[in-house]
Amino acid sequence: MRLMKTAIAAILGLSVVAGGLAQADAMSDAIKYRKSMMEVTGYNFKMMAAMVKKEMPFDKAQFEKMASTVHSMSMLTQDGFPKGSDGLAGDTKAKDEVWSKPEAFNKDVVAFQKASADLMAAAKTGDMTSIGPKFKEAADSCKKCHDGFRSKSE
Ligand code: HEC
Repeated sequence: MRLMKTAIAAILGLSVVAGGLAQADAMSDAIKYRKSMMEVTGYNFKMMAAMVKKEMPFDKAQFEKMASTVHSMSMLTQDGFPKGSDGLAGDTKAKDEVWSKPEAFNKDVVAFQKASADLMAAAKTGDMTSIGPKFKEAADSCKKCHDGFRSKSE
């Protein structure tokens, strides 16, 4: 009986260790996750900027889709910076402040979500006079967070 208990304890102990490893391993992809999410955002944003600046013909359906993609990405922002993923080894420009000032970071996330939702609504009108200002607000929301939470070591 005692042996049995020891064996069970050992198995439980092992699975706790394995659980811890799996978590650390999963966490190590957080950098990839947020960079991919930002890349998708950046690509769509650049294309929208080209349409807003008339460097590319305005295509309402395409613009709506891009605005909606950026909004979806905004809803994932927080997931790319999970608690405990600060100090991960890897190629990242995320500042420690993301984790040491979570309220301020979250404020910028929410501003991004709101601005991208407003842009999505403006895109539905197909009217550049309402799209333009909302695009600018969304762009400002990127810049605000990058200024505070992304290091400029480029
Ligand atoms: C709430 C904060 C926040 C908002 C809002 C935000 N970003 Fe970022 N962004 C970051 C951080 C932090 C990084 C650095 C991530 C890293 O290196 O791990 C980053 C990185 C990036 C990158 C580089 C990705 C790479 O592969 O290194 C691009 C492109 C980018 N953002 C575009 C945008 C655009 C466009 C917007 C707005 C539409 C935006 N971001 C909004 C925080 C934000």
